[in-house]
Amino acid sequence: MKKLFIVANWKSNETEVQAEEWFRALKNSQITTNKEEREVIVCPPFILLSQAKELVTTSHLSIGIGAQDFSPFDSGAHTGEEPPALVKEYAQYAIIGHSERRNELGETDELLANKVAHALQQGVTPIFCVQGIETPIPEGVSLVAYEPIFAIGTGHPDTPENAESVIKAIKAKTHVQYVLYGGSVTADNVQTFTTMPAIDGVLVGGASLDPEKFMKIVENA
Ligand code: PGA
Repeated sequence: MKKLFIVANWKSNETEVQAEEWFRALKNSQITTNKEEREVIVCPPFILLSQAKELVTTSHLSIGIGAQDFSPFDSGAHTGEEPPALVKEYAQYAIIGHSERRNELGETDELLANKVAHALQQGVTPIFCVQGIETPIPEGVSLVAYEPIFAIGTGHPDTPENAESVIKAIKAKTHVQYVLYGGSVTADNVQTFTTMPAIDGVLVGGASLDPEKFMKIVENA
């Protein structure tokens, strides 16, 4: 059985109270999250990372934590940046290069390569987002998410066949080990992606906010 990653990207959503409910629902569920076969990773806003770590630890949940970005700077005089050495205390993963940040904040390939380098330096695994085979993937990246823009938050996912062929092409062109699919993944369509041979899991935005919906995705994956 191939290893699957199921990543929840909360984006700029959820309060402390909602986060607590989310983790409680996960703890009370019967889903198994054996990291060897099915790795579940939750990526809350930075300000909830410490709470997330505490809830994962106290609830003995076998899930990973990811940040939604990573600073391209070392710790120091960089107002507003999250210190890399602090982020690594909470997060084993970091989403880097999400198209929302590329488009809304003008993040460039060069900046993203810097973010990847800093994450790797801290032992944090980048989940590097690409929009297709043309997106450059920085050195050292082993986990990628293929997220076509037309599919993000639209309710119109890519076809599993097209996602499979893009992901196959990414793997053929690079040394990336795992490539996930992201964009309008739901409990109903998740399996059409995860049963494709080259697809190693899913990155879930909107449908990850409601714990019931997310648990269904994990169950069906
Ligand atoms: P979506 O977002 O699941 O809401 O389409 C996916 C993502 O942007 O990671």
